[in-house]
Amino acid sequence: MADRIFRIAIDGPSGAGKSTIAKAVARRLGIDYIDTGAMYRAIGLKMLSRGLAMEDSQALLDMLAETEIDFAGGRVILDGQAVDSLIRTPEVSKAASDCSALAPVRSKLVELQRKMGKTKSVIMDGRDIGTNVLTDAEYKYFLTASPEERALRRYKEMQEKGQESDYDKVLAQIIERDHNDSTRALNPLRKAEDAEEIDSTHMTIDQVVDYICSQVTL
Ligand code: DC
Repeated sequence: MADRIFRIAIDGPSGAGKSTIAKAVARRLGIDYIDTGAMYRAIGLKMLSRGLAMEDSQALLDMLAETEIDFAGGRVILDGQAVDSLIRTPEVSKAASDCSALAPVRSKLVELQRKMGKTKSVIMDGRDIGTNVLTDAEYKYFLTASPEERALRRYKEMQEKGQESDYDKVLAQIIERDHNDSTRALNPLRKAEDAEEIDSTHMTIDQVVDYICSQVTL
């Protein structure tokens, strides 16, 4: 482990492989991985389970005031309960994308994320890490892949898990989420000026992990 603290920011669209790559880099470098998408998913899950409408701003503020999100042993903990297995459904994906456009949700989560990146070395992935959360991160990457390649990866993953899937539907959902995430008013998905773009369309996961690790000087 290094003596100095350093932060690695990875942004990019859904399905580019950010979390798989960030997890592997974290393991190899012995640093913490923070999955900021999981935090938006946890809020989306809580809104869905409470039947909270996106427009009900007072109820949203009340709910956020009594919400705790943390990571323990690589799992996301919502109000004391590990929710990993509940936040990967298409319904929660949509709720996460919708609630991530709301100012009170973003300010709460961004504050938490900044705190997490202050005291220890971390790799954090999301949409606005390089542009907003950790603007002074020592290493910044913007990870992309073509929508067709990302849809194919997701489709294969679902097939391997024995889940029913339809390539055209998966592709349409990816295009819709890209649009949502990059056109919202608040901290839209965008490459930071000082981030390096990595197009993983024709790269394996290991190649991307090797590349990032080779750049980090401990
Ligand atoms: O990376 P993901 O698919 O788990 O993210 C879920 C949603 O959260 C995604 O639609 C965009 C949003 N998000 C965000 O707005 N900012 C982040 N830093 C991370 C995710």
